Amino acid sequence: MKKFKEVYGKPSAQCITCHTKPPERNDYGKDVLAALDKAKTPELTAEILKSVESLDSDKDGVLNGDEIKAGTLPGNPTSKPAPESRPVEAKSSALDNLVPKHTFHPAIVHFPIALLAVAAFLEFLSRWKKNEGFHSASVINLAIGLVSAAGAITTGIIFWLRLGAKLEGTLLIHLIVASASILVGIGAYTQRSKPAYIWLILLSGILVMVAGHFGGSMLYG
Ligand code: HEC
Repeated sequence: MKKFKEVYGKPSAQCITCHTKPPERNDYGKDVLAALDKAKTPELTAEILKSVESLDSDKDGVLNGDEIKAGTLPGNPTSKPAPESRPVEAKSSALDNLVPKHTFHPAIVHFPIALLAVAAFLEFLSRWKKNEGFHSASVINLAIGLVSAAGAITTGIIFWLRLGAKLEGTLLIHLIVASASILVGIGAYTQRSKPAYIWLILLSGILVMVAGHFGGSMLYG
């Protein structure tokens, strides 16, 4: 006991480290005795203790040396260190340190969402107030909205690739609806002088908000 404490610096060491009920020895105690016999000495030494460190006397899958270090009993299979509950380490690279995985997608998406929706609202005002100025403002909003949408789609795809997420469920719906809103928005832009414009910009505005809803539910639940 004295030698054990001296070698491992474990003042909490107990008789049951080596015994079930003294003088009866547990499997670790038996291995210690076997090592003593092999060394043909009655005196326990640091070398003899070290020689049984690489054994797993109680066959619980943790080596004696590791159990002693962890403060569990090397001769009792019900006593062993808890499996490390370390989370699966995410792959990280120099890029991750520089640019977060989301690649600023959650920040950029607000531009197409707001600009396409406001473009629809301005076109509605233009019809209601019979004011061409609102229509021009609507088209400008749409144009800037489409440019920012290109950024949103690009960063969104990079975000998805860096996460390594499966393209299914909410993510798939989000991608389809977001792409549809942009395609309809492009259609609206090409029809900007035609009566169909208001319906296209309205549809695009609604779709981009639905896409935003699904994107938000993935981030915030
Ligand atoms: C590092 C392991 C270890 C620890 C800790 C340990 N023992 Fe032992 N003990 C042994 C071994 C090995 C033997 C057999 C020694 C031999 O036969 O030469 C033994 C033998 C004994 C014996 C029989 C002596 C004999 O003459 O046959 C008794 C009694 C005993 N131990 C009691 C204790 C008690 C009480 C404690 C706690 C205070 C304790 N031991 C702590 C390993 C240990």
